[in-house]
Amino acid sequence: MERENQAYAKINLSLEVLGKRADGFHDLVSVMQTVSLCDDLTFAPAEEVTFTCSQAELTGPSNLVVRAANRLRQVCGVSAGCAIHLEKHIPHAAGLGGGSSDAAATLRSLVKLWALTVPKGTLYRLASQLGSDVPFFLQQGTALVEGRGERVTPLPDPPTRWYLLAKPPIQVPTAEIFARLQRAAWSDGSRTHALASHLRQGGAVQFGPNSLQDALFSAYPLAQDCFERVSQVSEGRAAVSGSGPTIVAWFPSQDEARRAAERLEDNQFALFVASSVASHREKPSCA
Ligand code: C5P
Repeated sequence: MERENQAYAKINLSLEVLGKRADGFHDLVSVMQTVSLCDDLTFAPAEEVTFTCSQAELTGPSNLVVRAANRLRQVCGVSAGCAIHLEKHIPHAAGLGGGSSDAAATLRSLVKLWALTVPKGTLYRLASQLGSDVPFFLQQGTALVEGRGERVTPLPDPPTRWYLLAKPPIQVPTAEIFARLQRAAWSDGSRTHALASHLRQGGAVQFGPNSLQDALFSAYPLAQDCFERVSQVSEGRAAVSGSGPTIVAWFPSQDEARRAAERLEDNQFALFVASSVASHREKPSCA
């Protein structure tokens, strides 16, 4: 039996960095949201763990999918394998969490395929060892994310919003943006906590600050150019997703998001229109 799984991208509605930790990572407070742009994974029973990918440069043992499968196999003492194939649609090194989402989808699918009983705490610990954003993708939907990324508190699903995602033709390593971050960009997390309270009370989605924005724009002026263009077509409702370079804007309807995308089509940006994806509802098909 073959299993299929969709691994959704995320956007950050708000992201505040509180400070640097002794282990070199940063403490942050973020509101994250899964969106319908997604990668497709298939899992088929096999004797060994094997991995193929539609993008040859992402194939190899260092891919988070392979590391997730091997870690789960080791931790749970599994002798079976799995033939995994990844069809990549989420741009790589774009601030959309694609690799982390693939890893979380792998953990979820293999727990089912191998019929494992894994305590939730063990699965979340394993996820956070793979990458800071992986625990969020086990949860999905809208969530408040704290610590290095390992503390994930679900928020109620806001009404569906439509997003335009615009990615400049550059790849931005997350580690580089964190390394460039100035202390002056640190904040106390209060604006992100205020957004989380607003969403808990049934408020509509809006964007908070992103502490990584200035570090991104000074290293990659094309990301700032993209931000300004997306702001123009969204009445200023634009934000950087994660460490960028993807810029995201929200729209009340799919039509409005599509019309905004059409106004940007003469640019060099890769454009995607996607809806928010809730955690506990039936998932839509990919954007
Ligand atoms: O955890 P992940 O491998 O996704 O993080 C990539 C890089 O981003 C880390 O090596 C670190 O430099 C930086 N990072 C950070 N603080 C976080 C998350 C990521 O400094 N909370």
